[in-house]
Amino acid sequence: MMRKKILVTGGSGFIGGNFVQYMVNKYPDYDIYNLDLLTYAGDLTKHREIEEKDNYWFIKADIADREEIIPLFTSKKFDYVVHFAAESHVDRSITEPEIFIRTNVLGTQVLLDAAKLVNVKKFVHVSTDEVYGELDFDPNIFFTEDTPLQPNSPYSASKASSDLLVRSYSETYGLPVNITRCSNNYGPYHFPEKLIPLTISRVLNDQKVPVYGDGKNIRDWLHVIDHCSAIDLVLHEGENGEVYNVGGHNERNNLEVVKTILHTLNKSEDLIEFVEDRLGHDKRYAIDPTKLEKLGWKPKYNFDTGIAQTIQWYLDNKEWWEQIISGEYREYFEKQYNV
Ligand code: NAD
Ligand code: TYD
Repeated sequence: MMRKKILVTGGSGFIGGNFVQYMVNKYPDYDIYNLDLLTYAGDLTKHREIEEKDNYWFIKADIADREEIIPLFTSKKFDYVVHFAAESHVDRSITEPEIFIRTNVLGTQVLLDAAKLVNVKKFVHVSTDEVYGELDFDPNIFFTEDTPLQPNSPYSASKASSDLLVRSYSETYGLPVNITRCSNNYGPYHFPEKLIPLTISRVLNDQKVPVYGDGKNIRDWLHVIDHCSAIDLVLHEGENGEVYNVGGHNERNNLEVVKTILHTLNKSEDLIEFVEDRLGHDKRYAIDPTKLEKLGWKPKYNFDTGIAQTIQWYLDNKEWWEQIISGEYREYFEKQYNV
């Protein structure tokens, strides 16, 4: 039997990195290609354990560079594409929106053209619930796949744009696609600019944790491994052209998240520092995952078990995040938080 060739874009980032490891270990008979530009968010050291395996390859390339991407597809003839590569941080999109359009919109379009050229069997576009905009605090209302797209940040607007392009390649050219829209992820290798790893790394250094506004904004937290299993399922079983929401009903407001981390690490709530609110700060995200559950998906973690596993991982892997927060990240932090 021919081995399946799977291209994973953004496989050196947080979720793509976890997905690459999950796939390389789960499917020894698939060839997994990780294509990544290694921006500030990409890091190869996390893949030391799989680097020697004979079903894993790394390709350094820019998804928005047509001259590079088209010849790569015609020579490698990938069977499947799982597309994670993106600029992913809302705060950065507020100060520098342009790169979000280049990578997330133009980059996706280049990949779609390349995928069409070699007739891939499936293009899974990894998107976000943020494309739906925000919900109010009524706990009975959720995002479904039919919720209208109403993105509020340059990040979510760029992701919504890419979702629409993916849809159009399905409708116009019959490209076999799926779009997944997942809620906030957390877990190993989460870059410390995002709330949960930022809180863990700062608390472990007895530094103040910046909470935006009143801390009441709600996110629906999913452990990254449960996102990986959802994408694996959609890749194999998803019906062409369909969108699948991914989430596990783990809503918490930001203060609850920060306090859980402080209590687990036996640190004082005095470390909480309320700072100026994010511009256009979405109030609440919450996913209705019924459609994906019907396909057979079941998450392994709830928030309590997942956050405990994650905090332990950050305790056991200090080297990884210390190397990140000592680099150019420090400059970013000072600029972002005005310190
Ligand atoms: P990340 O920022 O940790 O990783 C992004 C990766 O993409 C990095 O390795 C980076 O080097 C690479 N990349 C950036 N620009 C590139 C380019 N031009 N060419 C090739 N590679 C490039 O992001 P993440 O949090 O792992 O998110 C991955 C995907 O999942 C994104 O598409 C994001 O929108 C989506 N998503 C994220 C979350 C979340 O909570 N983090 C939730 C739902 C969906
Ligand atoms: P983040 O991890 O950036 O993810 P997203 O904006 O994609 O949801 O932020 C999660 C929540 O935490 C969001 O409501 C903003 C808030 N937040 C803070 O309060 N302080 C911080 O320093 C950061 C980075 C985020």
